[in-house]
Amino acid sequence: MSRKILIAGNWKMNGLLKESSELAKEIASNVKKMDTKAEVLVCPPYTLLWTVKKALRGSKVALGAQNCHTEEKGAHTGDISPVMLKDAGCSYVILGHSERRHDHHETNAIVCQKAEAALKAGLKVIICVGETLEEREKGEALNVCERQIKASVPAISTASNTVIAYEPVWAIGTGKTATPQDAEEVHAHIRKILAQKLSKSVASKMRILYGGSMKPSNAEELLKMEDIDGGLIGGASLKAADFTAIIEKVKI
Ligand code: 13P
Repeated sequence: MSRKILIAGNWKMNGLLKESSELAKEIASNVKKMDTKAEVLVCPPYTLLWTVKKALRGSKVALGAQNCHTEEKGAHTGDISPVMLKDAGCSYVILGHSERRHDHHETNAIVCQKAEAALKAGLKVIICVGETLEEREKGEALNVCERQIKASVPAISTASNTVIAYEPVWAIGTGKTATPQDAEEVHAHIRKILAQKLSKSVASKMRILYGGSMKPSNAEELLKMEDIDGGLIGGASLKAADFTAIIEKVKI
């Protein structure tokens, strides 16, 4: 089954206008020269969306956000709706990142509601799941991801509007990466659960990204695995050279 590899940069809470515009321009220009088969996406913080959108003009690099509200508009101070993201030029939104689940107490039910709202607004969603170190050490990794997938992915998800990201919490920003074999085990399990929840055909086409200290030196061995269909990259997406070097590892 050939799934188009997606390399997505999650800039998290990083970047000011000038440097971010330069970063986006450099990524766009590198991608243009490379003629990669991968789909490339950057997800800056809200304040940079419009500037980055302008910097990416004329390139194939897509724009995404890192969160959204469940409602279209209204009295929700400090929140941003999926319709607003679409209006600002986003095609994707990351939802249920472990940092949001932790910092903002986002439950699977909330993630699912947000995903439904984003899909209805015409955005594609990247739904994140992943176990903590404690859960992994207890042998709970597969069960935790299974529960998160079952309760966070809405019934209206299809292979073209939804991407899953497996991000083991202990591998995020720590320099520790899951071995390709450990990651593959979870990815294959997630695909099995997606087949039960959605359908076998949808699951076989849906992309499952790996995230957690992915960098140029380990990207190739991860991306080679059967069920790893790209990367959701934090730290290494903030340097054009590193992000580009990861995209260069995409061979198919
Ligand atoms: P790092 O690549 O910095 O480990 O972050 C991964 C991540 O959380 C992407 O969403």
